[in-house]
Amino acid sequence: MTRESWQTRIGFILAAVGSAVGLGNLWRFPWMTSENGGAAFLLVYLGVVLVVGVPGLLAEFVIGRRSRRNPVGALSDLSDSRAWSAFGHVFVVTAVVLLSFYSVVGGWILRYLAASATGAYFADPAAYFGAIDYGVEAVAFHLAFLAVTAGIVLRGVRRGIETATKLMMPAILALLVALAAWGVTLDGAAAGLEFYLSPDVGYLRANFLDILPAAAGQALFTLSLGAGTMLTYASYLGEDRSLAADGTAIAALNTFVGVLAGVVVFPILFALGAGAGGGGPGALFVSLAGAFAALPYGELVGVAFFGVVALAALSSSISMLEIPVSFLVDEYGVSRRGATTGLVGVFAVTGAVCALDPDVFSFVAGTLVNLLLTGGLVGFLLFAGWVMGADALDEYRTGAGSLAGDLATPWLYAAGVLIPVFLVFTFVSGLAAALGVTVGPLSVLGVTLDQTRVLVVVSVAVAVLSFVGLRRPNSVL
Ligand code: PHE
Repeated sequence: MTRESWQTRIGFILAAVGSAVGLGNLWRFPWMTSENGGAAFLLVYLGVVLVVGVPGLLAEFVIGRRSRRNPVGALSDLSDSRAWSAFGHVFVVTAVVLLSFYSVVGGWILRYLAASATGAYFADPAAYFGAIDYGVEAVAFHLAFLAVTAGIVLRGVRRGIETATKLMMPAILALLVALAAWGVTLDGAAAGLEFYLSPDVGYLRANFLDILPAAAGQALFTLSLGAGTMLTYASYLGEDRSLAADGTAIAALNTFVGVLAGVVVFPILFALGAGAGGGGPGALFVSLAGAFAALPYGELVGVAFFGVVALAALSSSISMLEIPVSFLVDEYGVSRRGATTGLVGVFAVTGAVCALDPDVFSFVAGTLVNLLLTGGLVGFLLFAGWVMGADALDEYRTGAGSLAGDLATPWLYAAGVLIPVFLVFTFVSGLAAALGVTVGPLSVLGVTLDQTRVLVVVSVAVAVLSFVGLRRPNSVL
């Protein structure tokens, strides 16, 4: 059977943007921002998107298009190594982790979409969210969201994913622009924009080590990086167009939507005196939904808003499900139908666990996802830089224009050396924070190193060791 492929280039771009734009922009971002100091967090996050985003996307694209396989098959085919094939299985785990909590939030969104029409949560938003967030009903809505996701994936790459995202993306954009244009005209919107846009440098300095792993994790999350989604989507590319141009367009569109989402969320919150929200996964549902209650035509605004969020969530959840589906189809010759239905059975259970236990949910959706995506992207970058080497450059140059082509070698240096060092640092600090260990101050050869310096030394050492270990005859670095 021939492998599926996108029908058009724009279809691929919209599907990838659809994957990127999602709950990450609209729900996780306000949550993470309110927990990590507002605009200070935004600053670090945007920095990571810029520096790591496009080169990271390109690494996944290059691996995917070269191999035309799922993440596991790609890493084992292109390396001929059992260790890489074993590492590839991490991405199947990542997909399970991602979709398990994502589908629970997707369920909340579906519920709020319906509840907005009648204003069911208007009277007491906090109590309403508290009553529905975890428990049997949350499981039911999670299953509904999962069913819609599976319904699209079941129809395949072209008829399912490509067609759905082609319809959804313009709708999302149009609705968001309309909401933003309306939101900034509200009285008091300026305070919201200020909170969102002016960083507190003192806070940033004092908390940098806590902000960084969270901001990096969020940046990867919003771009769907480090999970193998972008790799899988690029593996369905039929024609050789410029990956660099497509990657830049995708990152730019996602950032635009992300910033726009902030322009919708924060002015509405501040205009109605709700402040930045209480933090936690409920920030969006309690504060923002609560704000709709006070607005003229609040039901309408609620339906429009949760409609956008539902579409955005779906166009991302299908990309998560597609990772293990493509794995089973490519590697075991399972039919798409068989793979999708079998996986839905697994996700139904793992998602239900998240829907029942708030502690599991927060750990999975926060720390665990940050670590998996960061570690996963380090793997892809090292693979492109050191294992593929000259082949990565060749694949990058195929279809690239002259400007993008000139950037091939600098890209490989960034992807293979600089960015891994940075990500190993965020990974190690995230891990230390998660385990509650403090490393430092340490005194080495008479020099006292504080925690940050210890982590920097450890990260550089880990990175250099992996460069040496991975070097192949093909390596150009
Ligand atoms: N980028 C998606 C969002 O912002 C989430 C996602 C992460 C999707 C990783 C696929 C892979 O909602």
